Amino acid sequence: MKHIRLGMTVLAFMSFAVPASAGQFGNVNTRNCTWCHGASAQGYTPAPRLAGQRPQYLANQLHNFIDRRRDNPFSKLYMWHAAANIDSQDVRYLATYFSRLHPKAADDGDMSLVAAGRRIFQDGVPASNIVACIACHGPRAQGAREIPRLGGLAFTYLRRRLAQWHDGYDKHARHPMTDVAGRLSPKQIAALASYLSYLKE
Ligand code: HEC
Ligand code: HEC
Repeated sequence: MKHIRLGMTVLAFMSFAVPASAGQFGNVNTRNCTWCHGASAQGYTPAPRLAGQRPQYLANQLHNFIDRRRDNPFSKLYMWHAAANIDSQDVRYLATYFSRLHPKAADDGDMSLVAAGRRIFQDGVPASNIVACIACHGPRAQGAREIPRLGGLAFTYLRRRLAQWHDGYDKHARHPMTDVAGRLSPKQIAALASYLSYLKE
């Protein structure tokens, strides 16, 4: 009996220890993810960077794809299928695994919009009742817990994500993103996406 209990404890421990190298976890292999998200998960358009993202945020998004709540056209086309056969334990493995990879900045925004983007990120737009992003996403846009890291994500991804919320997709996203994005103009979105694409920790 003692042996069985010990065996079960070891098994429970092993099931939450994530190996350092890519491989097979439960029902999924990380290669099923990196052939779209890039070999070191730095993103490969239209798939965003996963490396260095907050594990709680990654897990929440994977559940959103599994439950088909994140419903923009790219999510439907790619991620609903990619996440269809993963269970809660796989979600934890994958979220932990990708969060531990070192993120590289995309550095691909419009340089001439960086200063304007920084201003909105740090001060918000009081006249349009837009809160400062820094209040939640942090001074280097590094995120925390369920709030994602934005620093260094690709310009096209950031712009698309904010524009899709503005257009009414992904209504189930956590507060306050649908409201915040709904108040941003296309120019302000481009400025924020430019600034953030260059931001490093
Ligand atoms: C066929 C290509 C493809 C495959 C395979 C794929 N992804 Fe994705 N993934 C995408 C695209 C495209 C998006 C962007 C969806 C959007 O814009 O809403 C995305 C988005 C995501 C996001 C949201 C990130 C964020 O910042 O909000 C996560 C998390 C994710 N994928 C994880 C995974 C994992 C884990 C796997 C492997 C089990 C995987 N993906 C396999 C293409 C893919
Ligand atoms: C009150 C806190 C809060 C504020 C203020 C805030 N955010 Fe967010 N943001 C969040 C949370 C929480 C999420 C995760 C949403 C989810 O899980 O669906 C998020 C998600 C995002 C994402 C998605 C990232 C990805 O990988 O797909 C972007 C882009 C973003 N925020 C940009 C901004 C910008 C730009 C501003 C300022 C104009 C801002 N946020 C202000 C809390 C906040």
